[in-house]
Amino acid sequence: MLMVANWKMNMDRDAIVSYLDVLSKEGRWARWCAHGYRLLLAPPYPYLDFLMHELRERELPFWVVAQNMCAHEKGAYTGEVSADMLRDLALNGVILGHSERRRLFGETDAHVAAKTALALSRELVPIVCFGETEEERQSKDYPRVWERQIAPVWKEVQKARASGSETPVYFAYEPVWAIGTGRTAALDDIREVAWNLRESFGHECSSGLLYGGSVNDESLSVLVEKGTVYGFLVGGAFLDPEIVLRSFHLL
Ligand code: 13P
Repeated sequence: MLMVANWKMNMDRDAIVSYLDVLSKEGRWARWCAHGYRLLLAPPYPYLDFLMHELRERELPFWVVAQNMCAHEKGAYTGEVSADMLRDLALNGVILGHSERRRLFGETDAHVAAKTALALSRELVPIVCFGETEEERQSKDYPRVWERQIAPVWKEVQKARASGSETPVYFAYEPVWAIGTGRTAALDDIREVAWNLRESFGHECSSGLLYGGSVNDESLSVLVEKGTVYGFLVGGAFLDPEIVLRSFHLL
């Protein structure tokens, strides 16, 4: 089970040190890892290297993933960060297609597919976000939104598999109406997503399903018990390391 802390545009060096100070006091990380429960931290770009260094120093077995990367390999793309750079920092993976990237920065399904292909070619684990808006939800045809977002990505995954890539891919269902709103999707909503992914794209696609959207230790206790998903993508709540710890104690 993967527990991803997406810090978004929050935290600084001091906050990261305090965060890790709290997590370092817990002695069970190695055991949790051995049982397949892993914490992934997704800091803003400027802190990736600092965080990797701190984790090594403290011997904390967390994975570090970026919140985004460029769809192009290299060159004149001011302000962008490449897959090779993430690889160079020895990162484990990258979050792609977050709804905030799509909605605020104009990312399209085609961009997300191109980024997924590039990530796989560099053995970076892609965590690909998808999910409908409130308006799309009302239309009742919302499963088509998931299919539209995932189909081009899945095509790239299939191509990568054909060329021998074994890097896992995770799909994170993050309905826009649940992000930062306090409205967590119901278990039945998440089951419906898993069923649709399995029907449309097969078992590999649905088995790595993560859920994100107003997850905290309370909602988690319900969602975890039923074993519906492979993990969670958590924003606001996981800015607090005490909530991270409480969540791991529930697993
Ligand atoms: P919240 O947990 O703050 O709703 O954010 C979810 C999210 O966007 C994680 O990527």
